[in-house]
Amino acid sequence: MIQMFHVYKTVGNTTVLEDVSLQVDKGEFVFLLGPSGAGKSTVLRLIHFDEHPTQGWVRLENYNSSTIKSRHIPLLRRRVGMIFQDFKLLRDRNIFDNVAFALQVTGAKKAFMKRKVLQTLALVGLGHLRNMMPAQLSGGEQQRASIARALVNQPFALLADEPLGDLDKEAAFDILQLLRELNHQGTTVLMATHDTELVETLPYHCLRIEKGKIL
Ligand SMILES: Nc1ncnc2c1ncn2[C@@H]1O[C@H](COP(=O)(O)OP(=O)(O)OP(=O)(O)O)[C@@H](O)[C@H]1O
Ligand SMILES: [Mg+2]
Repeated sequence: MIQMFHVYKTVGNTTVLEDVSLQVDKGEFVFLLGPSGAGKSTVLRLIHFDEHPTQGWVRLENYNSSTIKSRHIPLLRRRVGMIFQDFKLLRDRNIFDNVAFALQVTGAKKAFMKRKVLQTLALVGLGHLRNMMPAQLSGGEQQRASIARALVNQPFALLADEPLGDLDKEAAFDILQLLRELNHQGTTVLMATHDTELVETLPYHCLRIEKGKIL
């Protein structure tokens, strides 16, 4: 479960989030809808514990932002995978190594790592491109690779920050279908978007955020 409880986030003199409470249950697919500057990315970063709330708390499974020890934050991050509009793949290594990198930092054994990476690449339909460099792939394929990287530690949830933003219509549809399929298989998905039309066509729960407040 993902929970935010009366969260305020202030940066300098600016209030970025004001009294945000939300909950995403295990297995749900939830949209976080709002215009540019509304605070969507900030909400996702707080849930990933990249930032801390100024007031209030964030809970992720049994981890709470108000009590967590900093040495536990890497463990927590394996429980939630992040994906971004611009993929954030490492340009100087191939697709296999990009995904393997997320496992390496956990100290996984080599044989296990190889099996797990191949299995995850197959899951997102990218097994055949594993030796390619990111720049050799289409946007949709790069987004699949970044999803594989987010999934390789078997998180219970995926946080997606405008994951369709840089893709053409067809690739965006395919990535959305992949996220829906992963959700269908049990992964919780929280997806930030400003695309009102897209949100209206799908039967998922939608949290609206504007000027740092949940409506
Ligand atoms: N570190 C920071 N310093 C100053 N202002 C910040 C900081 N982080 C966020 N903000 C401000 O907080 C507001 C919300 O930012 P955020 O990136 O969360 O919005 P967003 O909904 O993701 O927008 P977009 O759709 O453009 O990505 C913005 O006005 C932004 O300028
Ligand atoms: Mg953003």
